[in-house]
Amino acid sequence: MTRPFVVCGPGTGLLFKAGPASRVYTREMEAKMAVRILVGAAWGDEGKGKIVDFLSEQADIVVRFQGGANAGHTVQIGEQEYILHLIPVGILRPDKTCVIGNGTVIDPEALMEEIEMLGSHGIDVEGRLFISHNAHLIMPYHKLIDRVGEEQRQEEERIGTTGRGIGPAYADKAARKGIRIVDLHDHGVLKEKLQRNIEEANRILDAIYQAEAFDADRIIEEYLAFARQIGPYVINTSEYLNDAIDDGKEILFEGSQGTLLDVDHGTYPYVTSSNTTTGAACMGAGVGPTRIDEVIGVAKAYTTRVGNGPFPTEFPSRWGDEFRRMAGEFGATTGRPRRCGWFDAMVVRYAVMVNGIDSLALARLDTLDSLQTLRLCVGYRLNGDVIPHLPNDANVLARCEPVYEEMEGWDRPTGHIRTWSELPVKARAYIERVAELVKTDVKIISVGSHRDATIFL
Ligand code: IMP
Repeated sequence: MTRPFVVCGPGTGLLFKAGPASRVYTREMEAKMAVRILVGAAWGDEGKGKIVDFLSEQADIVVRFQGGANAGHTVQIGEQEYILHLIPVGILRPDKTCVIGNGTVIDPEALMEEIEMLGSHGIDVEGRLFISHNAHLIMPYHKLIDRVGEEQRQEEERIGTTGRGIGPAYADKAARKGIRIVDLHDHGVLKEKLQRNIEEANRILDAIYQAEAFDADRIIEEYLAFARQIGPYVINTSEYLNDAIDDGKEILFEGSQGTLLDVDHGTYPYVTSSNTTTGAACMGAGVGPTRIDEVIGVAKAYTTRVGNGPFPTEFPSRWGDEFRRMAGEFGATTGRPRRCGWFDAMVVRYAVMVNGIDSLALARLDTLDSLQTLRLCVGYRLNGDVIPHLPNDANVLARCEPVYEEMEGWDRPTGHIRTWSELPVKARAYIERVAELVKTDVKIISVGSHRDATIFL
């Protein structure tokens, strides 16, 4: 089987590649073949960075398939903390290849900053970072429209976006006027599209937001420079990934944000502008659903949320402030304080359903070490009745009252523990109850930010 993959014509400055000429399947290959999707099971910030880093040891290729630099995936290696916004966490392991798929929206400025940051730590991405030619670009006007749009909304109508231009970039994509990575290779097309989009953005900025206009020539120059920098990374990533799967490579899809931030399945309109759930991995990477072997969900042992929108198990503000300080719950991308609350089994069970989650990674168990009593939300009361499912309509969810079950805390440090049997009995009981409530096995438990602070069941 020959599958050449060609992104753009020769002489464009973009990578021009041919796929392997033939493939011979072996039993070993088949046995090893594993394509996994990892998604957040709540409102993002579930600790996916650490879990992806842990699982990427086994993987050959790690793939981002949606979102953009709104994500903040944190990994602690030794004394060094890395926060990655766009490039998959797998890049931190020198033998891994990383892909930024077509479903993402790429801010070239943020991308180049991230490549530079990695370079300053001696991490070279060349030859092992590939970007889809079909991914859309975030432009400076997307970021401005995002920010002024938020500022000019009434307080109670604000989404609380990260200000990274995500919504406006996906809006242009859906309106079929977005600028894609592939457009960077044809300077004539790029200039024409940019000119048209900047003129339109300037009209919107002036008429609706009374904001300053962009200088089209300056942006064109800037993006032509990005075109030269990004060129070597661009390939047809769908072909690349499908060939890799045929070759028996292990692939890990790194979801960003979380299920409840999904534009369809989340608490709309308090969501991000991409699909963050499992199906998006197929769409956002050009890989068919029959090629996926396993879905892993990540949830914290409690719940957090940044930005606005309903959050039934949120702690009352004073206790929430105390917990946040103790847990260090501040956004990795914006530094904003995260809202904190009890574990919500309604949310995670819903995530298990819409993602088809096979097993759960439970993060930050150690953060609960010092609590005397823990609460688990086991249901919602709406208009006096206990309801069986999570309503993802934000207005209805805002009226739901959590029904709690209390458990005794274990009141002992767990950060040093590496096996299930060493965990305090009460911690095990808590995890077992979580698994029972969300109807999924817990297979990974994280008890600290370092790579080795992980219990694998
Ligand atoms: P946007 O993605 O910047 O448009 O923000 C929309 C909503 O998603 C806001 O509530 C953000 O706080 C939230 N959000 C976006 N990215 C993340 C993330 O990586 N973690 C947690 N929340 C996020």
